[in-house]
Amino acid sequence: MKPFLFVTDLDNTLVGDDAQLVLLNQILAQHRQNYGSKIVYATGRSPVLYRELKEEKNLIDPDALVVSVGTEIYFDNSESPDASWSEVLSRGWNRDLVVKAAEKFPELVPQPQTEQRPFKVSFFLKEELSEKILPQLDSELQKYALNIKLIYSSGIDLDIVPSDSDKGQAVQFLRQKWEFVSEQTIVCGDSGNDISLFAAGKERGILVGNARPELLQWYSQNRTDYRYLASSYCAGGIIEGLKHFGFLE
Ligand code: GLC
Ligand code: MG
Repeated sequence: MKPFLFVTDLDNTLVGDDAQLVLLNQILAQHRQNYGSKIVYATGRSPVLYRELKEEKNLIDPDALVVSVGTEIYFDNSESPDASWSEVLSRGWNRDLVVKAAEKFPELVPQPQTEQRPFKVSFFLKEELSEKILPQLDSELQKYALNIKLIYSSGIDLDIVPSDSDKGQAVQFLRQKWEFVSEQTIVCGDSGNDISLFAAGKERGILVGNARPELLQWYSQNRTDYRYLASSYCAGGIIEGLKHFGFLE
């Protein structure tokens, strides 16, 4: 068995079925110990909300932690994010201007303070308003010629982040750093902010059986043999996918 780079979203992907999570944790920890595989969490959560979940669900320590939808990368439990990644993101990013442009839209309800990050401005936006508001917000932001993009997930969460940043680009950064080919890289997710994980390249993609409509729609338009839609939910779907791609004995 060769080492692999295992990257997973947390909410409703790794986490959501406690019994299967225990099993998957064992499989991953053993693969890391035996073959030097690497484990990465890629979540929309801030460091604060990540730590809450880690505690609550007894998550194993990752080799790298990608939080705030790819805008911060932490290695080995470090307190501060990787500086070379922050430097990439700071080009063309102006947080104050993003906040100012968004203030014109009363439909955008700011998320809690913990979720507002140096390279991430987040709101709640009701699904029924999103089709109208997202294009308007996009053109408003374009007036300022900002290097940004909008990521809408789960019919409620809106993140505004630097255009060079998402979970997928953070994973490409790690893949190059650790020298994993895409054939030995696995990415797992369930919702809109995971699309970039699947779209970035030819990584082996596992969509859990409970994937959200926005991800399923993208999948139906981008089917290939290196993307697998599992029938089981959450960690159970990940185990199913790892077997499908031949990553487990
Ligand atoms: C997590 C974060 C939130 C973000 C969402 C989608 O729930 O806490 O800020 O909007 O993921 O990326
Ligand atoms: Mg999720």
